[in-house]
Amino acid sequence: MGRRLYLALLAAAAALALLPGLGWGAYPVNEAPFYTQPYLVSPTPHHSMYIIWFTSTPTTESYVEFGPGYGTRVRAATYEIEGFKTTDAQGRYTVPLPVYQQIVHLKGLKPGARYYYRAVSDGVATMGYDFRTAPNPGRPVKFVLLSDLQMKAQVPETVRLAGQQEVDFIIYNGDFGSRNPERSGEWFTVPGQVFPADVNPASTDEIDTHRWFNVMQQWGDGCRLLQYVPIYPTPGNHEIDDQSLLRTPVEGRDRMTMKIYLQLFRPLYPEQEYGPNGRHWYAVDFGDVHLISLSIFRWFAYPAATPPGWYLFDDIQAGSPQYQWLEHDLKTAKNQKYIWITQHWHTLNRGWDVAVPFTDPVIVDGVATYPAENDYLLRDLLPLMEKYGVNAVSYGHSHVYERYEWEYAPGRVIHFIEAASIGNNYRSATDPPASPNTGLIPAFEENRFRSIMVVEVNRGHGMSAQGIQASGDQIGRVFDEFSVAPSLWR
Ligand SMILES: [Fe+2]
Ligand SMILES: [Fe+2]
Repeated sequence: MGRRLYLALLAAAAALALLPGLGWGAYPVNEAPFYTQPYLVSPTPHHSMYIIWFTSTPTTESYVEFGPGYGTRVRAATYEIEGFKTTDAQGRYTVPLPVYQQIVHLKGLKPGARYYYRAVSDGVATMGYDFRTAPNPGRPVKFVLLSDLQMKAQVPETVRLAGQQEVDFIIYNGDFGSRNPERSGEWFTVPGQVFPADVNPASTDEIDTHRWFNVMQQWGDGCRLLQYVPIYPTPGNHEIDDQSLLRTPVEGRDRMTMKIYLQLFRPLYPEQEYGPNGRHWYAVDFGDVHLISLSIFRWFAYPAATPPGWYLFDDIQAGSPQYQWLEHDLKTAKNQKYIWITQHWHTLNRGWDVAVPFTDPVIVDGVATYPAENDYLLRDLLPLMEKYGVNAVSYGHSHVYERYEWEYAPGRVIHFIEAASIGNNYRSATDPPASPNTGLIPAFEENRFRSIMVVEVNRGHGMSAQGIQASGDQIGRVFDEFSVAPSLWR
């Protein structure tokens, strides 16, 4: 292309960007029938990729075009999503909303290769995107930790910074929306939807920049998020479809479901078991990283001592289906250089909710009690993690930045990490100086500003992690740095 033609095109693009609605380089423009831009999910990222998007109609034809000149076309499978609602005239989420999920599975890809694609539904094409498959072991890999967006005030800026880190994938440590997941408007823009009064952002304009997909599909200025890199999520307490079940002390566990979350990430959860103790976990290899996603959370808005107490959504104690699966998976992963676990609930944390041992309640004289010796995370999971040389465990939930180094034998360390000061921060002045369940003091914590954590593997120095400042006057500054040793003895 000649320089003059190039400059003319650049000027035309800049002029277009000024037109209202085109939103140059910030938030996605989802032209009907698109509710979202495509997002990437892959249980086998070396060789295949799922490209997924939501539409307002089933569409007569949806597909992905990829490869040179977008010459290869792969048709989408269409699923109707169960459970989304839109608002009535008063802004209450009472009206069922038909939402369709288009899923294209690209197979037979080469490891470490870049592919260009765009999604098409009923003749409307998205802009062009690209992704890179997972590289072979020994090659560099980079990822970022995110979690707990929940429509919190400063989330868009923090996520944008995360998108500019040139990562290969995103680990999302749970908690997506702020209210019931069935609220379509917390995920994406539904044209004409009435603005509900009880959300965190204060205006319709503000809410548009806080909807989960809008935040996570920002683009431009080197921002590469869900359209470009696969996401590996874990469920949190905010993924329970009916959050009112968490507010009343009733025997509600059997009525709980996690429909929306599981449908969103269908390729990772092919069984689609919505109730408690369904299969809500998976593992994936990405280069030298073996990533395990567990389902570990609880949370109730009533006192822990009130019967029936704070029960767990999915069992995790020794002998439970999830524990047995984890043990089997850890055995088979022993040749992997690094094992990283993501779970929503914190094993170690300075917040008060760690003071209630993570175990099934025992009712004594009408009071729910939690015997400390039965803490499943410390009693059952920790020895398993030590035995199989797990390198790091990341979680969310407390919206803080703090991490612990658990040295269980000379030179053998498990890093417990919460890097979830992303949109707000819940560190309180009354929090104890050490984790209440162990008395352990954090190896590092920093809660005076928002931040993200980026982890690099095989870039000359094994695995290394950096905490990066995301607010204040030193955005982009590395304020915390540590390395993770491979478990060579495994
Ligand atoms: Fe949270
Ligand atoms: Fe949470």
